[in-house]
Amino acid sequence: MDKILVHGGRSLEGQVRIGGSKNSALPILAATLLTKEKCVIDCVPDLSDIHYMLTILSQLGAEVERASGVVQILAEKIRTEAPYEIVRKMRASVCVLGPLLGREKKAKVSLPGGCVIGDRPIDLHLKGFEALGAKVTVKGGDILLEASRLRGARINLRGRQGPTVLGTGNVMMAAVLAEGETVIEGAAEEPEVVDLADFLTAMGARISGAGTQRLEIEGVKELHAAKHTVIPDRIEAGTFLVAGAIAGKKVTITRTNPRHLEAVLTALTTAGFEISHTEESVTISPNGSRKPLHLETLPYPGFPTDMQAQFCAMLATRHGTSVVTETVFPQRFMHVAELKRMGANIELSDHRATIHGVEQLSGAPVMASDLRASAALVLAALPADGVTEINRVYHIDRGYERIDEKLNSLGAHIERVKA
Ligand code: EPU
Repeated sequence: MDKILVHGGRSLEGQVRIGGSKNSALPILAATLLTKEKCVIDCVPDLSDIHYMLTILSQLGAEVERASGVVQILAEKIRTEAPYEIVRKMRASVCVLGPLLGREKKAKVSLPGGCVIGDRPIDLHLKGFEALGAKVTVKGGDILLEASRLRGARINLRGRQGPTVLGTGNVMMAAVLAEGETVIEGAAEEPEVVDLADFLTAMGARISGAGTQRLEIEGVKELHAAKHTVIPDRIEAGTFLVAGAIAGKKVTITRTNPRHLEAVLTALTTAGFEISHTEESVTISPNGSRKPLHLETLPYPGFPTDMQAQFCAMLATRHGTSVVTETVFPQRFMHVAELKRMGANIELSDHRATIHGVEQLSGAPVMASDLRASAALVLAALPADGVTEINRVYHIDRGYERIDEKLNSLGAHIERVKA
């Protein structure tokens, strides 16, 4: 198991290129199961979560070829049962349910287990499948879906915690091959849902309203081959901008879409940084005064929960007293205890962190927990005094392509060593 050593105190400067979006690529790869013809997906990031998804697709019978970011998938004949040994490693495996149900009218996939960022039910996915006519059974740890035919329906997918991103994608993937019209109300508006809808449309699906809370899907008989380029990863982009905020003189991220980053850019500007952008790049530089923030995570276009931990790391030093409220995954504060080990002054109550910025954090041995919490620890370590040792690095590799190398190219000093 690798660990990362961050030697604090280096300042960052330069350009870094953002990879394809993990959270777009995962359902898009699953969607290739919807056709017997070959699909070609470009800008697929090289991450362990992507590797798990490709392994699941192979196990389901698809032929998968991968060469430098381009993945070709031919799912001519497929099986409908996804094996537990792989599914249990990644919660996003559930996004094969929609395509299997859509194409084969049946699926058997393990129910994902607990998750460190909180209870993550899939009741809304299942409610959507049921509305389309599937019989849903949970037995022996597996979800079983079966339908003689799928029929378009009106479905509201908004849950207690708001809309569901993968749930919207999953139900959309089943509905594209259902008979008649499906209307999904309370749909997630995330750019990743729009990217998936764009890919499905390229395959011949008829979808309108992607990017709004109401999706209309006119079922078609079959889908065909398509090529697609995955959108840039807005969370990787945001993470490198926070790195620039924390330790940068001037950092530019390229191959990004600033429109997907509005809430993050607004927060960084409010926190006292100078931001400029072109169509495909964003530059951040310090402008002297750092200010506190009152942040609340919300579904898109609100401030993303996937950037909450990184902002906590930034606000832990020299920003006065900030308040960060997590509404999407109320228990997603695993990073707080680890940041405290580095000297942060943070009070947690319920789903809110009150952060009293200290002058400087100090390096310490810390434990990576979930993906974004781990990235937050790397960020916190950049300006810290001394060396921070981050264990369980595999969490970071699930969602960041070579984060150590990319930060080093900006001037950081990060080593990866075998534990
Ligand atoms: N929820 C339900 N029932 C459901 C589904 C969701 O109650 O059936 C609740 C969740 O418990 C949560 C809220 O609804 O409180 C939103 O969850 P959502 O379903 O939108 O999350 P997700 O689709 O499972 C994706 C990303 C997450 C990201 C969330 C929110 C992928 C692979 N994952 O998860 O990304 O935090 O949307 O934006 O797309 C990450 O990349 O680090 C990550 C965790």
